[in-house]
Amino acid sequence: MSQYKEPMLRDGSLKGKTFVVTGGGTGLGRSMSKYFLELGAQVVICSRKKDVIEEAALTLEKETGGRCLGLPCDVRKYEEVESILQQAVATFGQVNGLVNNAAGNFISPTERLSHRAFDTIVDIVLKGTYNCSLSFGKYWIANNIKANVLNIVTTYSWVGSGYVVPSACAKSGVLALTRSLAVEWGKYGIRFNAIAPGPFPTPGAWDRLFPQDFLDKLEIEQRIPVGRVGEHQELANLAAYLMSDYSAYINGDVITIDGGEWMRNGGEFSWIGDMISPDMWDRVEEMIKSKNSKGSTS
Ligand code: HXC
Ligand code: NAP
Repeated sequence: MSQYKEPMLRDGSLKGKTFVVTGGGTGLGRSMSKYFLELGAQVVICSRKKDVIEEAALTLEKETGGRCLGLPCDVRKYEEVESILQQAVATFGQVNGLVNNAAGNFISPTERLSHRAFDTIVDIVLKGTYNCSLSFGKYWIANNIKANVLNIVTTYSWVGSGYVVPSACAKSGVLALTRSLAVEWGKYGIRFNAIAPGPFPTPGAWDRLFPQDFLDKLEIEQRIPVGRVGEHQELANLAAYLMSDYSAYINGDVITIDGGEWMRNGGEFSWIGDMISPDMWDRVEEMIKSKNSKGSTS
Protein backbone atom coordinates (compact mmCIF):
# COMPACT_ATOMS: atom_id res chain seq x y z
CA MET A 1 0.00 0.00 0.00
CA SER A 2 1.33 3.46 -0.90
CA GLN A 3 0.66 5.10 2.45
CA TYR A 4 2.93 8.02 1.56
CA LYS A 5 0.25 9.19 -0.88
CA GLU A 6 -2.22 9.66 1.97
CA PRO A 7 -2.77 12.59 4.32
CA MET A 8 -0.96 11.96 7.59
CA LEU A 9 -1.94 14.41 10.32
CA ARG A 10 -5.09 14.34 12.43
CA ASP A 11 -8.09 16.40 11.32
CA GLY A 12 -7.95 19.91 12.76
CA SER A 13 -4.18 19.81 13.38
CA LEU A 14 -3.80 23.35 12.00
CA LYS A 15 -7.08 24.81 13.25
CA GLY A 16 -6.72 28.41 14.41
CA LYS A 17 -3.57 29.03 12.35
CA THR A 18 -3.17 31.47 9.48
CA PHE A 19 -0.32 30.87 7.07
CA VAL A 20 1.05 32.82 4.12
CA VAL A 21 2.49 30.64 1.35
CA THR A 22 4.53 32.47 -1.28
CA GLY A 23 4.21 30.94 -4.73
CA GLY A 24 1.16 29.09 -3.37
CA GLY A 25 -0.83 29.14 -6.61
CA THR A 26 1.11 26.41 -8.43
CA GLY A 27 3.16 23.28 -7.94
CA LEU A 28 4.36 22.31 -4.47
CA GLY A 29 3.15 25.58 -2.92
CA ARG A 30 -0.36 24.79 -4.06
CA SER A 31 -0.18 21.20 -2.78
CA MET A 32 1.05 22.36 0.64
CA SER A 33 -1.61 25.08 0.79
CA LYS A 34 -4.32 22.58 -0.05
CA TYR A 35 -3.29 20.28 2.77
CA PHE A 36 -2.97 23.17 5.27
CA LEU A 37 -6.56 24.13 4.38
CA GLU A 38 -7.75 20.54 4.77
CA LEU A 39 -6.21 20.53 8.25
CA GLY A 40 -8.14 23.65 9.26
CA ALA A 41 -5.66 26.49 8.64
CA GLN A 42 -6.60 29.72 6.89
CA VAL A 43 -4.19 30.31 4.04
CA VAL A 44 -3.05 33.36 2.08
CA ILE A 45 -1.32 32.49 -1.17
CA CYS A 46 0.61 35.03 -3.21
CA SER A 47 2.56 35.26 -6.45
CA ARG A 48 3.15 37.68 -9.32
CA LYS A 49 0.41 36.48 -11.68
CA LYS A 50 -2.88 37.97 -10.43
CA ASP A 51 -5.16 35.76 -12.54
CA VAL A 52 -3.32 32.56 -11.56
CA ILE A 53 -3.27 33.31 -7.83
CA GLU A 54 -6.89 34.44 -7.64
CA GLU A 55 -8.12 31.41 -9.57
CA ALA A 56 -6.02 29.09 -7.37
CA ALA A 57 -7.48 30.57 -4.18
CA LEU A 58 -11.05 30.12 -5.42
CA THR A 59 -10.40 26.53 -6.50
CA LEU A 60 -8.66 25.66 -3.22
CA GLU A 61 -11.62 27.03 -1.26
CA LYS A 62 -14.01 24.91 -3.34
CA GLU A 63 -11.86 21.79 -2.99
CA THR A 64 -11.33 22.04 0.76
CA GLY A 65 -14.17 24.13 2.21
CA GLY A 66 -11.47 26.25 3.90
CA ARG A 67 -10.72 29.98 3.69
CA CYS A 68 -8.04 30.97 1.19
CA LEU A 69 -7.10 34.45 -0.01
CA GLY A 70 -5.10 34.90 -3.24
CA LEU A 71 -3.06 38.10 -3.48
CA PRO A 72 -0.72 39.32 -6.22
CA CYS A 73 2.74 40.08 -4.86
CA ASP A 74 6.29 40.17 -6.13
CA VAL A 75 8.36 39.01 -3.15
CA ARG A 76 11.35 40.98 -4.51
CA LYS A 77 9.52 44.20 -3.55
CA TYR A 78 9.48 44.85 0.19
CA GLU A 79 6.48 47.20 0.03
CA GLU A 80 4.40 44.51 -1.73
CA VAL A 81 5.35 42.00 0.97
CA GLU A 82 4.29 44.47 3.67
CA SER A 83 1.03 45.02 1.83
CA ILE A 84 0.09 41.32 1.73
CA LEU A 85 0.90 40.99 5.43
CA GLN A 86 -1.44 43.90 6.18
CA GLN A 87 -4.19 42.43 3.97
CA ALA A 88 -3.78 39.02 5.60
CA VAL A 89 -4.07 40.52 9.10
CA ALA A 90 -7.05 42.64 8.05
CA THR A 91 -8.83 39.55 6.68
CA PHE A 92 -7.94 36.90 9.24
CA GLY A 93 -7.00 38.91 12.35
CA GLN A 94 -3.51 37.48 12.69
CA VAL A 95 -0.80 35.61 10.76
CA ASN A 96 1.29 32.99 12.55
CA GLY A 97 3.07 31.11 9.81
CA LEU A 98 5.05 31.76 6.63
CA VAL A 99 6.20 29.34 3.94
CA ASN A 100 8.92 30.84 1.75
CA ASN A 101 8.26 28.69 -1.31
CA ALA A 102 8.37 31.14 -4.26
CA ALA A 103 11.33 30.53 -6.55
CA GLY A 104 12.78 31.14 -9.97
CA ASN A 105 15.21 28.84 -11.70
CA PHE A 106 16.34 27.52 -15.08
CA ILE A 107 19.15 25.29 -16.22
CA SER A 108 21.99 26.94 -18.12
CA PRO A 109 25.78 26.95 -18.32
CA THR A 110 26.80 29.87 -16.10
CA GLU A 111 28.91 31.57 -18.78
CA ARG A 112 25.76 31.98 -20.90
CA LEU A 113 24.00 34.01 -18.19
CA SER A 114 23.73 37.77 -18.23
CA HIS A 115 24.18 39.52 -14.89
CA ARG A 116 20.47 40.32 -15.09
CA ALA A 117 19.61 36.64 -15.33
CA PHE A 118 21.75 35.94 -12.25
CA ASP A 119 20.04 38.82 -10.39
CA THR A 120 16.59 37.56 -11.34
CA ILE A 121 17.05 34.18 -9.67
CA VAL A 122 18.93 35.42 -6.61
CA ASP A 123 16.39 38.20 -6.07
CA ILE A 124 13.35 35.91 -6.21
CA VAL A 125 14.86 33.20 -4.03
CA LEU A 126 17.10 34.96 -1.51
CA LYS A 127 15.81 38.53 -1.46
CA GLY A 128 12.21 37.28 -1.59
CA THR A 129 12.86 35.05 1.40
CA TYR A 130 14.58 37.68 3.50
CA ASN A 131 12.00 40.33 2.58
CA CYS A 132 9.20 38.09 3.83
CA SER A 133 11.10 36.84 6.87
CA LEU A 134 12.06 40.38 7.94
CA SER A 135 8.64 41.92 7.39
CA PHE A 136 6.75 39.09 9.11
CA GLY A 137 9.37 38.76 11.87
CA LYS A 138 9.09 42.44 12.83
CA TYR A 139 5.29 42.06 12.98
CA TRP A 140 5.50 38.93 15.15
CA ILE A 141 8.05 40.42 17.54
CA ALA A 142 6.15 43.72 17.88
CA ASN A 143 2.88 41.88 18.57
CA ASN A 144 4.33 39.10 20.71
CA ILE A 145 3.01 36.38 18.37
CA LYS A 146 4.53 32.90 18.39
CA ALA A 147 5.18 31.86 14.80
CA ASN A 148 6.67 29.36 12.44
CA VAL A 149 8.63 29.77 9.22
CA LEU A 150 9.29 27.03 6.69
CA ASN A 151 11.76 27.64 3.87
CA ILE A 152 11.81 25.42 0.79
CA VAL A 153 15.41 24.89 -0.29
CA THR A 154 17.08 22.15 -2.37
CA THR A 155 19.65 19.46 -1.69
CA TYR A 156 22.24 21.46 -3.63
CA SER A 157 21.95 24.19 -0.94
CA TRP A 158 24.90 22.47 0.74
CA VAL A 159 26.73 20.64 -2.07
CA GLY A 160 26.19 23.27 -4.76
CA SER A 161 25.43 22.33 -8.36
CA GLY A 162 26.71 23.25 -11.77
CA TYR A 163 24.23 24.60 -14.33
CA VAL A 164 21.89 26.11 -11.70
CA VAL A 165 24.48 28.30 -10.02
CA PRO A 166 22.32 31.35 -9.18
CA SER A 167 19.76 29.05 -7.58
CA ALA A 168 22.47 27.18 -5.68
CA CYS A 169 23.92 30.46 -4.34
CA ALA A 170 20.51 31.75 -3.35
CA LYS A 171 19.26 28.53 -1.74
CA SER A 172 22.50 28.29 0.29
CA GLY A 173 21.78 31.79 1.54
CA VAL A 174 18.23 30.76 2.46
CA LEU A 175 19.59 27.82 4.43
CA ALA A 176 22.00 30.13 6.29
CA LEU A 177 19.11 32.46 7.06
CA THR A 178 17.04 29.51 8.34
CA ARG A 179 19.71 28.38 10.76
CA SER A 180 20.71 31.90 11.85
CA LEU A 181 17.22 33.21 12.63
CA ALA A 182 16.22 29.93 14.30
CA VAL A 183 18.83 30.79 16.90
CA GLU A 184 18.36 34.55 17.03
CA TRP A 185 14.54 34.59 17.13
CA GLY A 186 13.97 31.42 19.13
CA LYS A 187 13.64 33.64 22.20
CA TYR A 188 10.56 35.27 20.63
CA GLY A 189 8.91 31.89 20.02
CA ILE A 190 9.61 32.04 16.28
CA ARG A 191 10.85 28.78 14.77
CA PHE A 192 12.64 28.46 11.41
CA ASN A 193 13.05 25.16 9.55
CA ALA A 194 13.63 24.10 5.96
CA ILE A 195 12.69 21.26 3.65
CA ALA A 196 15.08 20.16 0.90
CA PRO A 197 13.07 18.23 -1.69
CA GLY A 198 14.55 16.02 -4.36
CA PRO A 199 12.69 15.83 -7.68
CA PHE A 200 8.92 16.31 -7.33
CA PRO A 201 7.37 16.75 -10.79
CA THR A 202 5.74 20.17 -11.28
CA PRO A 203 5.28 22.04 -14.59
CA GLY A 204 7.26 25.01 -13.16
CA ALA A 205 10.37 22.96 -12.40
CA TRP A 206 10.14 20.45 -15.26
CA ASP A 207 9.71 23.09 -18.00
CA ARG A 208 12.82 24.93 -16.81
CA LEU A 209 15.10 22.18 -15.52
CA PHE A 210 14.21 18.98 -17.36
CA PRO A 211 13.20 20.03 -20.89
CA GLN A 212 12.16 17.19 -23.21
CA ASP A 213 15.64 16.90 -24.80
CA PHE A 214 17.02 16.13 -21.34
CA LEU A 215 14.22 13.75 -20.41
CA ASP A 216 14.91 11.80 -23.62
CA LYS A 217 18.47 11.19 -22.41
CA LEU A 218 17.98 10.89 -18.69
CA GLU A 219 15.95 8.60 -16.48
CA ILE A 220 15.50 10.63 -13.34
CA GLU A 221 14.24 7.64 -11.35
CA GLN A 222 17.53 5.82 -11.92
CA ARG A 223 19.37 8.48 -9.93
CA ILE A 224 17.15 7.93 -6.92
CA PRO A 225 17.83 4.93 -4.65
CA VAL A 226 14.13 4.32 -3.91
CA GLY A 227 13.51 4.30 -7.70
CA ARG A 228 10.84 6.95 -7.94
CA VAL A 229 10.22 10.70 -7.82
CA GLY A 230 8.37 12.41 -4.97
CA GLU A 231 4.61 12.51 -4.42
CA HIS A 232 3.20 15.92 -3.53
CA GLN A 233 1.23 14.54 -0.58
CA GLU A 234 4.35 13.22 1.15
CA LEU A 235 5.95 16.65 0.95
CA ALA A 236 2.69 18.26 2.13
CA ASN A 237 2.63 15.84 5.09
CA LEU A 238 6.14 16.88 6.12
CA ALA A 239 5.38 20.59 5.63
CA ALA A 240 2.18 20.37 7.69
CA TYR A 241 4.04 18.59 10.49
CA LEU A 242 6.77 21.26 10.53
CA MET A 243 4.15 24.05 10.52
CA SER A 244 2.16 22.40 13.31
CA ASP A 245 2.77 22.43 17.05
CA TYR A 246 3.62 18.71 16.91
CA SER A 247 7.10 19.76 15.77
CA ALA A 248 7.55 22.38 18.52
CA TYR A 249 11.03 21.13 19.47
CA ILE A 250 12.39 21.17 15.91
CA ASN A 251 14.10 24.46 15.17
CA GLY A 252 16.91 25.38 12.79
CA ASP A 253 16.88 22.10 10.93
CA VAL A 254 16.65 21.13 7.27
CA ILE A 255 14.84 17.92 6.42
CA THR A 256 15.72 16.22 3.17
CA ILE A 257 12.98 14.37 1.29
CA ASP A 258 14.63 12.95 -1.82
CA GLY A 259 14.63 9.14 -1.63
CA GLY A 260 18.38 9.24 -0.96
CA GLU A 261 19.18 11.06 -4.23
CA TRP A 262 21.78 13.57 -3.09
CA MET A 263 23.64 11.08 -0.94
CA ARG A 264 23.94 8.67 -3.87
CA ASN A 265 25.01 11.26 -6.40
CA GLY A 266 27.13 13.27 -3.99
CA GLY A 267 29.28 10.29 -2.98
CA GLU A 268 32.57 10.09 -4.87
CA PHE A 269 32.03 6.52 -6.14
CA SER A 270 28.30 6.15 -5.71
CA TRP A 271 27.61 6.31 -9.44
CA ILE A 272 29.88 3.39 -10.25
CA GLY A 273 27.53 0.65 -9.06
CA ASP A 274 25.25 1.01 -12.06
CA MET A 275 28.09 0.70 -14.59
CA ILE A 276 29.89 -2.40 -13.38
CA SER A 277 28.52 -5.93 -13.74
CA PRO A 278 28.88 -8.56 -10.97
CA ASP A 279 31.53 -10.38 -13.12
CA MET A 280 33.54 -7.24 -13.40
CA TRP A 281 33.33 -6.73 -9.62
CA ASP A 282 34.78 -10.24 -9.19
CA ARG A 283 37.72 -9.31 -11.40
CA VAL A 284 38.19 -5.97 -9.66
CA GLU A 285 38.22 -7.69 -6.27
CA GLU A 286 40.85 -10.14 -7.46
CA MET A 287 42.98 -7.35 -8.84
CA ILE A 288 42.82 -5.37 -5.60
CA LYS A 289 43.54 -8.39 -3.40
CA SER A 290 46.49 -9.46 -5.55
CA LYS A 291 48.04 -6.07 -4.93
CA ASN A 292 47.53 -6.56 -1.19
CA SER A 293 49.09 -10.03 -1.03
CA LYS A 294 52.44 -10.58 0.66
CA GLY A 295 55.25 -10.35 -1.79
CA SER A 296 53.60 -7.74 -3.93
CA THR A 297 56.11 -5.08 -4.81
CA SER A 298 53.70 -2.28 -5.62
C1 HXC B 1 19.52 31.99 -20.07
C2 HXC B 1 17.66 33.19 -19.33
C3 HXC B 1 16.84 32.03 -19.46
C4 HXC B 1 17.46 30.82 -19.92
C5 HXC B 1 15.62 33.68 -18.72
N1 HXC B 1 16.85 34.17 -18.88
N2 HXC B 1 15.59 32.37 -19.06
N3 HXC B 1 18.97 33.17 -19.63
N4 HXC B 1 18.80 30.85 -20.21
N5 HXC B 1 16.77 29.70 -20.05
C6 HXC B 1 17.30 35.54 -18.66
C7 HXC B 1 16.56 36.54 -19.53
O1 HXC B 1 17.10 36.60 -20.84
C8 HXC B 1 16.76 37.83 -18.74
O2 HXC B 1 18.06 38.34 -18.92
C9 HXC B 1 16.69 37.36 -17.30
O3 HXC B 1 16.98 35.96 -17.32
C10 HXC B 1 15.32 37.57 -16.69
O4 HXC B 1 14.37 36.91 -17.53
P1 HXC B 1 12.85 37.38 -17.58
O5 HXC B 1 12.12 36.42 -18.45
O6 HXC B 1 12.77 38.83 -17.91
O7 HXC B 1 12.44 37.25 -16.03
P2 HXC B 1 11.04 37.06 -15.34
O8 HXC B 1 9.91 37.39 -16.27
O9 HXC B 1 11.13 37.75 -14.02
O10 HXC B 1 10.96 35.45 -15.10
C11 HXC B 1 11.75 34.84 -14.13
C12 HXC B 1 12.25 33.47 -14.57
C13 HXC B 1 11.06 32.57 -15.04
C14 HXC B 1 12.98 32.85 -13.37
C15 HXC B 1 13.22 33.63 -15.73
O11 HXC B 1 11.55 31.29 -15.40
C16 HXC B 1 10.02 32.42 -13.96
O12 HXC B 1 9.08 33.20 -13.88
N6 HXC B 1 10.16 31.39 -13.06
C17 HXC B 1 9.25 31.16 -11.91
C18 HXC B 1 8.97 29.71 -11.65
C19 HXC B 1 10.16 28.80 -11.59
O13 HXC B 1 11.28 29.15 -12.02
N7 HXC B 1 9.95 27.60 -11.08
C20 HXC B 1 10.98 26.57 -10.94
C21 HXC B 1 11.38 26.36 -9.54
S1 HXC B 1 12.24 24.83 -9.40
P3 HXC B 1 18.39 39.55 -19.96
O14 HXC B 1 19.84 39.79 -19.83
O15 HXC B 1 17.97 39.06 -21.31
O16 HXC B 1 17.56 40.73 -19.49
C22 HXC B 1 13.53 25.05 -8.31
C23 HXC B 1 14.37 23.87 -7.81
C24 HXC B 1 14.23 22.61 -8.53
O17 HXC B 1 13.81 26.09 -7.90
C25 HXC B 1 15.20 21.53 -8.14
C26 HXC B 1 14.83 20.27 -8.90
C27 HXC B 1 15.41 19.06 -8.35
P1 NAP C 1 6.62 26.43 -9.37
O1 NAP C 1 5.27 25.81 -9.48
O2 NAP C 1 7.18 27.11 -10.56
O3 NAP C 1 6.59 27.41 -8.12
C1 NAP C 1 7.26 28.63 -8.03
C2 NAP C 1 6.25 29.68 -7.63
O4 NAP C 1 6.92 30.88 -7.30
C3 NAP C 1 5.23 30.02 -8.71
O5 NAP C 1 3.93 29.94 -8.16
C4 NAP C 1 5.55 31.47 -9.08
O6 NAP C 1 4.34 32.17 -9.41
C5 NAP C 1 6.15 31.98 -7.77
N1 NAP C 1 7.05 33.12 -7.96
C6 NAP C 1 8.11 33.21 -8.81
N2 NAP C 1 8.67 34.42 -8.72
C7 NAP C 1 7.95 35.09 -7.77
C8 NAP C 1 8.06 36.40 -7.22
N3 NAP C 1 9.02 37.26 -7.62
N4 NAP C 1 7.15 36.78 -6.27
C9 NAP C 1 6.19 35.93 -5.86
N5 NAP C 1 6.04 34.68 -6.35
C10 NAP C 1 6.93 34.27 -7.29
O7 NAP C 1 7.70 25.32 -8.96
P2 NAP C 1 7.74 24.21 -7.80
O8 NAP C 1 8.44 23.05 -8.38
O9 NAP C 1 6.41 24.03 -7.19
O10 NAP C 1 8.74 24.88 -6.74
C11 NAP C 1 8.28 25.26 -5.44
C12 NAP C 1 9.47 25.33 -4.49
O11 NAP C 1 10.04 24.03 -4.35
C13 NAP C 1 10.59 26.24 -4.94
O12 NAP C 1 11.15 26.90 -3.82
C14 NAP C 1 11.61 25.29 -5.52
O13 NAP C 1 12.90 25.81 -5.50
C15 NAP C 1 11.43 24.12 -4.57
N6 NAP C 1 11.91 22.84 -5.10
C16 NAP C 1 11.21 22.19 -6.05
C17 NAP C 1 11.64 20.94 -6.50
C18 NAP C 1 10.89 20.15 -7.52
O14 NAP C 1 11.36 19.08 -7.91
N7 NAP C 1 9.71 20.59 -7.95
C19 NAP C 1 12.83 20.40 -5.98
C20 NAP C 1 13.53 21.12 -5.00
C21 NAP C 1 13.05 22.34 -4.55
P3 NAP C 1 4.28 33.47 -10.40
O15 NAP C 1 4.97 33.09 -11.65
O16 NAP C 1 2.81 33.76 -10.50
O17 NAP C 1 4.99 34.56 -9.63
